[in-house]
Amino acid sequence: MAALTGAAAIVTGIPISKYVIAPSLGKGDGKWIDLGEIGGLAAGKVQMVAYEFMVKDGWLVLPQKGFVWVKSDGDGKLTVFSSICTHLACNVIWREDAGIFECPCHSGRFNLEGKPVAGPPTRPLTVLEHKIEEGKVKVLLTV
Ligand code: FES
Repeated sequence: MAALTGAAAIVTGIPISKYVIAPSLGKGDGKWIDLGEIGGLAAGKVQMVAYEFMVKDGWLVLPQKGFVWVKSDGDGKLTVFSSICTHLACNVIWREDAGIFECPCHSGRFNLEGKPVAGPPTRPLTVLEHKIEEGKVKVLLTV
């Protein structure tokens, strides 16, 4: 009798747990985000590119907004930096006049290559994987 009860629990439990757990699996996945066409960016120049997409969190589907910094390396090559400071996760801002990324929270600074040059950050800005498809830049983000 106990074996039958256990088997019944497993048989009915699998679909129920799938229904309960599966909706929460949206977060933590890598997702390719379309940044659109990025053209005319001169070598060494940096451009902010904002994005927005929907992410599933439990039973909710919420907008996720943010931005990345795209640097032209010349010859059509790009580097896409995360805007997230590696110290305590504030957003860094590109300061064209000084040629640095600056974090307003604790005055962290990163050079054009994303390496920390001042303030508390010790790790470089994260370089995000990207690809270009049909003229559009797509970046891999973890949601
Ligand atoms: S969060 Fe950027 S320097 Fe502290």
